[in-house]
Amino acid sequence: MSENTATVDKQVDETVEPREWQPTILGILCNWCSYAGADLAGSARLHYPETIRIVRVPCSGRVDPMFVLKGFQKGFDAVMVLGCHPGDCHYAKGNYYARRRIALVKDLLKSLGIPEERFHFEWVSASEGNRFAEVVTEMTEKVKKLGPFEGVTR
Ligand code: FES
Repeated sequence: MSENTATVDKQVDETVEPREWQPTILGILCNWCSYAGADLAGSARLHYPETIRIVRVPCSGRVDPMFVLKGFQKGFDAVMVLGCHPGDCHYAKGNYYARRRIALVKDLLKSLGIPEERFHFEWVSASEGNRFAEVVTEMTEKVKKLGPFEGVTR
């Protein structure tokens, strides 16, 4: 290694600051409202943390509680399910079914020792790009306070 390379190498090392830990959040979004809302947030270049990885489902009513558990099993620090507002579901009642299932999800998380705060269910419409950005920002801040998900404790 020449001296110049060593010098540059040292300078690069000095400029690399330790990066702050960022949570990873699995977002399970209904295609018709929430995914469109996320798309709007992106196309409007709204600022929100790059912490969410999105999986698109036809409707929030399609969300099996196992999808949420799978997210934690795969190492996500949090999971969010976003769907159309009540009355706006393209399959009429899918989001009402989802809302009922969320109670089951919360029970499952509790029985596994996964803090409820690591899960969030929310309505986000296709025109609510701002809301999508807010939800991701709020969830990111909440999970940062909780720290990395350490796995199932029970
Ligand atoms: S289509 Fe969005 S919740 Fe049913």
